[in-house]
Amino acid sequence: MPTTTWNRHHILSLADFTTTEYDTVLQTAASFQEVLSRRTKKVPTLQGQVVANLFFESSTRTRSSFELAAKRLSADTLNFAAATSSMTKGETILDTAKTYLAMGTDIMVVRHREAGVPNAIAAEMDRLGVRVSVLNAGDGQHEHPSQALLDLFTICTLIDPASPRLELLKGKKIAIVGDILHSRVARSNIWSLIASGAEVHLAAPPTLLPKLFAEYISEELGVKSQESSPHFSTPPLFLHWQLEPALQDADFVMTLRLQKERMTAHLLPSLREYHQLFGITRTKLQLCKPNVKVLHPGPVNRGVEISSELMDDPEFSLIQSQVTSGIAVRMALLYLLGSGKA
Ligand code: NCD
Repeated sequence: MPTTTWNRHHILSLADFTTTEYDTVLQTAASFQEVLSRRTKKVPTLQGQVVANLFFESSTRTRSSFELAAKRLSADTLNFAAATSSMTKGETILDTAKTYLAMGTDIMVVRHREAGVPNAIAAEMDRLGVRVSVLNAGDGQHEHPSQALLDLFTICTLIDPASPRLELLKGKKIAIVGDILHSRVARSNIWSLIASGAEVHLAAPPTLLPKLFAEYISEELGVKSQESSPHFSTPPLFLHWQLEPALQDADFVMTLRLQKERMTAHLLPSLREYHQLFGITRTKLQLCKPNVKVLHPGPVNRGVEISSELMDDPEFSLIQSQVTSGIAVRMALLYLLGSGKA
């Protein structure tokens, strides 16, 4: 394992991640990727530590991936699912977290449908003066840092498997397409991709990429939004209400699920029309660089944001390697948070 300095106690957002932190995560994940290719895929790094997966919202890959990552590091794991917990009897989120604290939990991996819940648990742990780390596994429409980091790792290892690092993305054109408004994955990816020096193009219908979002992002990035068309376009971030300018010469295309559970109004005429205008297909990829690759965080609505055949096409699709990379990246995150506690 690389000897690293890691000072961050909770991982809640990528908004203030430094280049060194990104590179530390990428290098540590690369070491764990190597461990995972061995016959014995387990290391004793977090032996005796307890990792609690507190998932107040449904998940397939993120929850399983964190669980497997913790097990590969020899940690003891506790799995919580809201529907079968005492929350159904009225227990609050903070009391649930304190119950897991009393059992000796060292790292809490938290997912919740409301933005800010992992931050609230982290603040409570700090207030209590305990050395518990909180890792945000997706909070509402806010952030999903481990997903963006595994996306970053997937892309960087494709470019340089021996030495994945942030600077490899400098000057690459990356399109993020789909339900940006409701996507925590998009928000975390915007921070990491902008930090890498990539050119980031967001494409969605205006209802899923409103002007207010442009203003929020531009304010956070400290760049000035312009009134001209497209409605916001200041390097390195470009927003488009059409797909084509985003795809033109793109190196990577990140597609996003239509988050129907978070839509409060009818934001799209029909899924068929959405697929026609914004769905990614092999034909539309012809606008991109010849060796373009497509990512999707999953779960996928086949035939909506991406065509079924493209999703399964190993020449273009990185979807399966994203899932595989997720284990090494989450091992890295748990290791970096947990190693300070030993
Ligand atoms: C994402 C999530 O839950 O935010 N999925 C994931 O974690 N792999 C994206 C989504 O739900 O569409």
